[in-house]
Amino acid sequence: MSISLHINGEERHSNSAPLTPLADVLRDEFFLTGAKTVCREGFCGACTVWLDGKPAMSCLVPVGMAAGREVLTIESQAPDDVLSPLQQAFEQHDAVQCGMCFPGMVMSLTSFLAQTPDPSREQVKAALSGNICRCTGYERIVDAAMSVARGTGAKGITA
Ligand code: FES
Ligand code: FES
Repeated sequence: MSISLHINGEERHSNSAPLTPLADVLRDEFFLTGAKTVCREGFCGACTVWLDGKPAMSCLVPVGMAAGREVLTIESQAPDDVLSPLQQAFEQHDAVQCGMCFPGMVMSLTSFLAQTPDPSREQVKAALSGNICRCTGYERIVDAAMSVARGTGAKGITA
């Protein structure tokens, strides 16, 4: 049975079983490897994508549940290889080390900043509570988010 999906604005068809995690379908069937599968338990946030405009942990979403819904992955954030404002800010603030957490962080924070354009540092930290980084101390990540929010970094964030 083929499952119809809308991924990054394109119609796609998956031949995976309906209970296959969306993260695995994205990575293994469609080679969208930006979302990482680290814990596979909904704990780390590395697999975060947007489902119908809201962040979701794709390791916990059976692909059958994504049928007919709008899926956006980290690849949607840099069309034509132009980094999004938040991605540029991460780079400017040297906020990325190994990079495993980075796609999920960007998807979570982009959504948060679209809804909270002038957040406090504490609000940014709270928004990151579902995204684990094992390399950094988080401060540079928060700095990057704040720079975008306050317009001192790359501008124009939208969701
Ligand atoms: S791999 Fe999905 S939350 Fe960690
Ligand atoms: S940069 Fe390595 S887990 Fe965040």
